[in-house]
Amino acid sequence: MTEHAPRPLPLGLPLLAAPMAGGPTSPELVAAVCAAGGSGFLPGGYLTAAQLEQNLTRLSDLLTERGVANTPFGVNLFVPAPSDRQRDAERVLDYADRLGQEAGQPRWNDDDHYAEKLHLLVEVHPVKMVSFTFGCPRVDDVKRLHQVGSRVLVTVTDLDEARAAQDVGADALVVQGFDAGGHRGTHTVDKEPNHRDALALLPELAPLGLPMVAAGGVATRGDVQRLLAAGAVAVQAGTAFLRCPEAGTSAAHRDLLATAHGTRVTRAFSGRPARGLVNGFMERHESFAPPVYPQVDQVTKPLRAAAAARGDSSQISGWAGAGWSAAQDLPAAEVFASLLP
Ligand SMILES: Cc1cc2nc3c(=O)[nH]c(=O)nc-3n(C[C@H](O)[C@H](O)[C@H](O)COP(=O)(O)O)c2cc1C
Repeated sequence: MTEHAPRPLPLGLPLLAAPMAGGPTSPELVAAVCAAGGSGFLPGGYLTAAQLEQNLTRLSDLLTERGVANTPFGVNLFVPAPSDRQRDAERVLDYADRLGQEAGQPRWNDDDHYAEKLHLLVEVHPVKMVSFTFGCPRVDDVKRLHQVGSRVLVTVTDLDEARAAQDVGADALVVQGFDAGGHRGTHTVDKEPNHRDALALLPELAPLGLPMVAAGGVATRGDVQRLLAAGAVAVQAGTAFLRCPEAGTSAAHRDLLATAHGTRVTRAFSGRPARGLVNGFMERHESFAPPVYPQVDQVTKPLRAAAAARGDSSQISGWAGAGWSAAQDLPAAEVFASLLP
């Protein structure tokens, strides 16, 4: 337990562009939402520290160009958890065999360059907010971020995770419901995520007294209003921005968003539960995917990348939330204005 009292988040209008790693939440998307009076989180997941630094520089330039250089924004990091090679290697290799020759190789020491990215955010390029998903940062890391003036947010999906976040000194919670697109931020890989949305979770976590940013399934202004009325200090939307021209969403992902019939939560692509648009890959492989992250992500990656390159949306991880059908091909400022209460 830390002695630190949580400090308020530096927020403008209470609507944020959610971090979406793998391309969608580009510096351009965050800048557009900041220019509209909101804010956003640059994704740090899957990037090296050098790549994240490039994106931070690009975002700073864009904010300056748009005359909103001082808008506070955030960066999001994946908290690494070591996989148990002894226990899991065979299951991952069986899954790779099933996928065929194009499957990638699992790497057992992959920490997503976590320490290097934290170093960047503490020593080189501090930002106003740093959010974490897939677990809690260590108390010492939270202290380092506090020393450079960053607010620390932790994604949580239940009360136990929220208590753990409070114990490491988090300033705020990102309360993520089951309807959210992309990975559920459960703090352990093999935990089966609950089926609760942010509206149900907010009153349960409110007694902890931490500011809460709500996420999951936000498709309309009414959704945002309800989450704010239920106690959220801000709402974070991902899928609603996926089709914006400023987003770095791939063409295959955009195609799937325009043609899909629904979403569900699957471990097929990464080994972690994540909500995506239903496609052939998901249907063929999900019952065989072991709960091992990031190694399952690594073995499926070459197949997904090749499919995206040839515009084949049946084999990509088309992450999207339950409100996917409302996402529109409109500039981010218009999507932002349509959601803002
Ligand atoms: C394509 C995609 C990628 C995502 N990547 C991340 C990520 O890198 N880090 C993270 O904390 N959440 C990630 N998420 C989850 C979002 O931050 C957020 O919880 C979610 O988008 C909210 O639900 P919505 O998509 O229904 O608005 C991702 C979501 C999507 C759709």
